[in-house]
Amino acid sequence: MTAVPPKQQAIDRITELKEIISYHNRRYYVLDNPEISDEEFDALMRELTTLESAYPDLLTEDSPSQRVGGEAITGFVKVRQEIPMLSLANAFSPEEIQDFDRRVREGVSSSVSYVCELKIDGLAVSLRYEQGRLVRGATRGDGEIGEDITANIRTIRNIPLVLPEPLTLEVRGEAYMPKHAFARLNARREELGDPPFANPRNAAAGSLRQLDPKVAAQRGLAVFVYALGDATVPTPDKHSEVLQWLAALGFPVNPETRVYPNIEQVIAHIHWWAERRHHLPYATDGLVMKVDDLGLQRQLGFTAKSPRWAIAYKYAAEQAETVVTDIELTVGRTGTVTPTAVFNSVQLAGTTVSRASLHNEDYIREKDIRVGDTIVVQKAGEIIPEVVRALPDQRSGNEVPFHMPSHCPQCGEPLHRQPEEAAWRCVNPACPAQIQERLVHFVSRNAMNIEGLGERWIHQLLDAGLIRDVADLYHLSREQLFELDRMGEKLATNLLTAINHSKENSLERLLFGLGIPLVGEKAAKTLAVHFRNLDEIMMADLADLIAIRDIGPKMAQSIHDYFRSPGPQQLIQRLRDVGVNTSYLSHESATKRAIFVVENHDGALHAQTEDVGGETQNKSSRTPVAHQPFLGKTFVLTGSLAAMDRREAAEIIELLGGKVTDNVSKHTDVLVAGEKAGSKLNKAKNLITSGQQAHLKILTEEGFCTWLEELGVQLKR
Ligand code: IVH
Repeated sequence: MTAVPPKQQAIDRITELKEIISYHNRRYYVLDNPEISDEEFDALMRELTTLESAYPDLLTEDSPSQRVGGEAITGFVKVRQEIPMLSLANAFSPEEIQDFDRRVREGVSSSVSYVCELKIDGLAVSLRYEQGRLVRGATRGDGEIGEDITANIRTIRNIPLVLPEPLTLEVRGEAYMPKHAFARLNARREELGDPPFANPRNAAAGSLRQLDPKVAAQRGLAVFVYALGDATVPTPDKHSEVLQWLAALGFPVNPETRVYPNIEQVIAHIHWWAERRHHLPYATDGLVMKVDDLGLQRQLGFTAKSPRWAIAYKYAAEQAETVVTDIELTVGRTGTVTPTAVFNSVQLAGTTVSRASLHNEDYIREKDIRVGDTIVVQKAGEIIPEVVRALPDQRSGNEVPFHMPSHCPQCGEPLHRQPEEAAWRCVNPACPAQIQERLVHFVSRNAMNIEGLGERWIHQLLDAGLIRDVADLYHLSREQLFELDRMGEKLATNLLTAINHSKENSLERLLFGLGIPLVGEKAAKTLAVHFRNLDEIMMADLADLIAIRDIGPKMAQSIHDYFRSPGPQQLIQRLRDVGVNTSYLSHESATKRAIFVVENHDGALHAQTEDVGGETQNKSSRTPVAHQPFLGKTFVLTGSLAAMDRREAAEIIELLGGKVTDNVSKHTDVLVAGEKAGSKLNKAKNLITSGQQAHLKILTEEGFCTWLEELGVQLKR
């Protein structure tokens, strides 16, 4: 324990820490380009909270330590928006966008440039800063009266709590839940027996209406800022410049924003995003076009409901009709029996879908879904397939209503349903389906990460009677592996090495891998960091567990019960006996995958993914590349490149998430033109000038390399 410094020293250090932390917070959450490891960040935060708890009067509301959520409140206070938060008129076809442009040009009798922004599917929020400090966050409400949600807003990591200048202004934007956070939240809710959120928008809205900010803090919300509201400061003349100015102040502004000189290019932009938007990490329901010139915006003014200078283009919600061929039952690792609708495959939001969870018996009954029914399917939040409704009008009379069986479809033991739960469970710990799922979970990437040991091998190992639980994995011999169908020398060696290697994992992987009910990856990490070794966790009483931030009473009870059951206790002893590590190893948890571009022994460049972070990272020379910045982008390489050859360039692009094709087409986003580029370059220029692919970017090799370097790729030349 470090000694508490005298007060003046604490004041200085707190000020310094707040600045350092908000700098790194911005690099991580806004720029997606962290400079330090999670471990180092946590250490700074711990130092700050230690000082703040030693001197509680130094704790202010804008401290980054408050991101985890302060005290719960009893209700939301209504707030009035000085400038109403209006809605937008909608367009559903390119023709309606052309009509909008005609109206705009008639209104201002000049040519007009438009800013195109993604329409983020979340909820509008207003953020008010006074003297550079965030003082209020509010919902839109009816546009004039919203609700004060400041305590929840402060927990959103990419919202600056303090601005670099002491400005008084209000900004507006969309609070949203990224797709991965939505999927994680719903999976957890399902495990808890809570109804899932229908889409990320509802999930974001529900999270911001929580009375306990600690709940909102855990939901992984984010914001994109898209406008200035009430502001007394002098601002630029164009909306696009306002956005740049807001970005420079540290606000998260969506990077996909573009300015176009005419409506044809705006329409090309609409087509360009139609398919690609499904691959963004957040849900969008369209695009918003705004007149760029703020003077022209003022001339155009407003109707009663919406501005005349902006319009939302809404993509049609993607739904499809198909026929249910079966309702399958799967038994999860905790024994929950989940029905899944199997249907004739359909294309939805960028992928082929043929299955959707029906969650539980009540859900099927409410929607009255029968085998043989024609149903409407969609993807909730563009990721999770769901059955919207059955179409009873299309029934022939041969459809079969669903009945939950009274016994486990896998082991035949009776199923149980707790009065307050929606799920039926198989409580037989020896149920083969549960055993298999527990094993699959244990070896999975985010748990013990035993590479190569997928579901197929687990299935075979169980079938051959070579394993019964996770501890048996560590007793497998080469000879036993050879008994398996299609097992070769090399594979057996690799599997045994991977199994052996997993003994060295840090505690949180084991904790998550054990599959303790309600303990997800994040809670496993919290427990590991807090207790440092498994013995301490096993001995912790309920009060110790509840006292930990982020561990709620239900989860604490579950952890407590798990470690007091004889089955888990014996299993853990057997894992210890084979040498599985049960301590927290700090460097491991800070490890991340990152992309570097490195030089081969022969001097050629190539891209490589590596584990970085924590104690293993050489901080002075390497910064990982932001995650897959080229996702959804198609590149063409032409001409001769000097710094790298085409194969190397293609490898780098693909590692960054992009695609490389041979020919320039309407789908090309970037053409990298080296020396002596010829016909492909001309074709690209034609596509741009004809407006068929107004987005296409032509880069020289130098421009491409600069872009890579800006993204953090280190080109060793
Ligand atoms: S501008 C007066 N820009 O869409 C103009 N809105 O139907 C105010 N939205 O309530 C809105 N992304 O919640 C604007 N880039 C964007 C947006 C956006 C999402 C939402 C916003 C608004 C609704 C309008």
